[in-house]
Amino acid sequence: MIRPHAEAVVDLDAVANNVTRLTRVAAGAALMVVVKADGYGHGMVPIARAARAAGASWLGVALLDEALALRASGDTGRLLCWLAVPGVDFGAVIAADVDVAASSTAQLDEIAAGAGRVQRRARVHLKVDTGLSRNGCSSQLWPQLVESAATWQRNGRVEVVGVWSHLACADEPDHPANAAQERVLDESLDVARAAGVTPQLVHLANSPATLTRPSSHRDLVRVGLATYGLSPAPDVGSAGDFGLRPAMALRARLAAVRRVPAGAGVSYGHTHVTTQPTTLGLVPIGYAEGIAVSASNNAQVAVRGRRCPQVGRVCMDQFVVDLGAGGADDAGAGDEVVVFGPGDDGEPTAQDWAAASGTIAYEVVTRLGGRLFRTHTGAGR
Ligand SMILES: Cc1ncc(COP(=O)(O)O)c(C=O)c1O
Repeated sequence: MIRPHAEAVVDLDAVANNVTRLTRVAAGAALMVVVKADGYGHGMVPIARAARAAGASWLGVALLDEALALRASGDTGRLLCWLAVPGVDFGAVIAADVDVAASSTAQLDEIAAGAGRVQRRARVHLKVDTGLSRNGCSSQLWPQLVESAATWQRNGRVEVVGVWSHLACADEPDHPANAAQERVLDESLDVARAAGVTPQLVHLANSPATLTRPSSHRDLVRVGLATYGLSPAPDVGSAGDFGLRPAMALRARLAAVRRVPAGAGVSYGHTHVTTQPTTLGLVPIGYAEGIAVSASNNAQVAVRGRRCPQVGRVCMDQFVVDLGAGGADDAGAGDEVVVFGPGDDGEPTAQDWAAASGTIAYEVVTRLGGRLFRTHTGAGR
């Protein structure tokens, strides 16, 4: 087989390690691994299987189609999907035994109608907006939603299994919004119980809250980024500090190597000009694969175990690295470039690329795609 020009290699043993770690951190709560957006770019189905095998009792996705794709892959465990637009066919996911979320009475009515069509009872998680102002039912409309849920429940069309919300500032553990959101959640629960809605599962915590805020764990935690071994709160701790292992390594092979004199302008716009004679290496991935243009002239890669700066503007299919500045100027075309990895051998991490491009590690891994190959290693493969 021809070795790929570039590949994202996902270590499923690392995922299993992270699931085990998170299970311990949130002992007492059930663990939902969030596998939306193609498993944050790591491959939804292999991640789902590895997570289940490592003990995740729940999986979570945003879209109904993602839930159906998981079911089509053979997944049969508890699964929640939480983002839908008016008019979607809830019947299909309800028939597939998927839990659904309702943020409004209109949405709950659509869920109940879908349940009616497929002659099933929908398992519903009522979502309350406790301060994110993104999705979820406002506190003003919440009494109406729980009344409506109680009615549908009496009719046998829905079963309210969960009440839940999502945090805005969990990556800043001292932010007052965290405690405020917990308070609003508790008040909302009182309102729900008074209306006769008594959910088995209350859930709020994402990865940063799971790792830093035990009071948010409640009955179930929904962990995404931490499962993939990246720190969801880099200002608080690194992945290693949290006992997590990055699952993805992004590797490529040098397409070409060239000697250039001092004063050579590199890539579009000549945003980098060499200051001395050096060796440039060409890495055959670019923004079409999800490498951020905003990382231009800020990021590093590892070649032959040495860190080399990325120089000049990142292009659609390729970017340039200065092998001379990294002391790897004896590298040749075809040699491996580690764009990022777990950091074990001093290579940059996805978090380093996030910092270099002014974004978050979530975006670095999730946006990878295009013509990249992706392979999975480890026991869960
Ligand atoms: C509703 C919901 N819960 C949980 C998560 C998981 O978040 P994290 O990746 O920070 O664990 C997400 C992801 O954005 C989400 O949208």
